Amino acid sequence: MVLYFTGTGNSRHAAIIISDAVGDELVSMNDMIKNGETGAFKSELPFVFAAPTYAWRMPRVVSEFILNSSFEGCKKAYFALTCGGQTGGASRYLKKLCEAKGLEFMGLASIVMPENYIAMFPVPGKEEAAKIIAEAEPELLKAAALIKSRSPLPTEKTMPAGRLLSAIVNPLFYRLFVSSNGFYSTGGCTGCGVCARLCPLNNIEMISGRPVWDGNCTHCMACICRCPAGAIEYKKRSQGKPRYYVNDEGRI
Ligand SMILES: Cc1cc2nc3c(=O)[nH]c(=O)nc-3n(C[C@H](O)[C@H](O)[C@H](O)COP(=O)(O)O)c2cc1C
Ligand code: SF4
Ligand code: SF4
Repeated sequence: MVLYFTGTGNSRHAAIIISDAVGDELVSMNDMIKNGETGAFKSELPFVFAAPTYAWRMPRVVSEFILNSSFEGCKKAYFALTCGGQTGGASRYLKKLCEAKGLEFMGLASIVMPENYIAMFPVPGKEEAAKIIAEAEPELLKAAALIKSRSPLPTEKTMPAGRLLSAIVNPLFYRLFVSSNGFYSTGGCTGCGVCARLCPLNNIEMISGRPVWDGNCTHCMACICRCPAGAIEYKKRSQGKPRYYVNDEGRI
């Protein structure tokens, strides 16, 4: 069973490649989290979790969802974290998560895909993003082949700096930066409600035909990157930056 969480489609694309190669079903954690559900999952094939990297770890909402769900059948658990550059010391926390759920940690594939954090960092243009996605696909297929044969993924060496980023900067990042306060819609907003429908945490409410952000945000970037009118900004930091969503075929 391949479970994914995504903001802008990279991790969904990664999950689709793996589930196609392994011949296994695909489950959206976005939908379940949005509906306030946890899972009672049963699978004879290994569990595979695909998600973005947030501050050098798996997103907190995803770890919490896994902690609150149950997993029966095959006890092997694989992780594919898409990232703009590196996953730091993420595997340490994934191992702990597996221990807590009685799952066997079978490894982490860190897959470099286009940076999507337009509220904070520069992001690649569409052409460069397409190139990065094309380069990621063979890596995903390699990981899928190992998952299919139930072999461990190769161990990734964690540098001391990576360990620090995951251990110390991660909690600070959530405390200091992850907030919905900076989002606003511009005059181009058509009131379509797509942003509210997409938000996995139901953080956006449509009031008088305009989105209002309300506190519970994980900075997934779905609203700002998928607004059909390009009418969402985050403070001044997102202005002029490209927005894209990776579709099921890996195109943007
Ligand atoms: C809140 C946030 C934090 C991020 N932190 C990291 C990070 O620590 N390391 C990294 O390489 N990329 C980081 N990124 C980039 C994403 O992990 C990357 O673009 C990923 O492919 C997005 O996946 P998605 O399209 O499935 O949401 C971050 C992105 C966001 C939105
Ligand atoms: S998705 Fe964009 S256009 Fe639609 S309601 Fe939200 S901000 Fe407005
Ligand atoms: S408000 Fe936007 S960035 Fe925050 S969780 Fe919802 S969709 Fe993601």
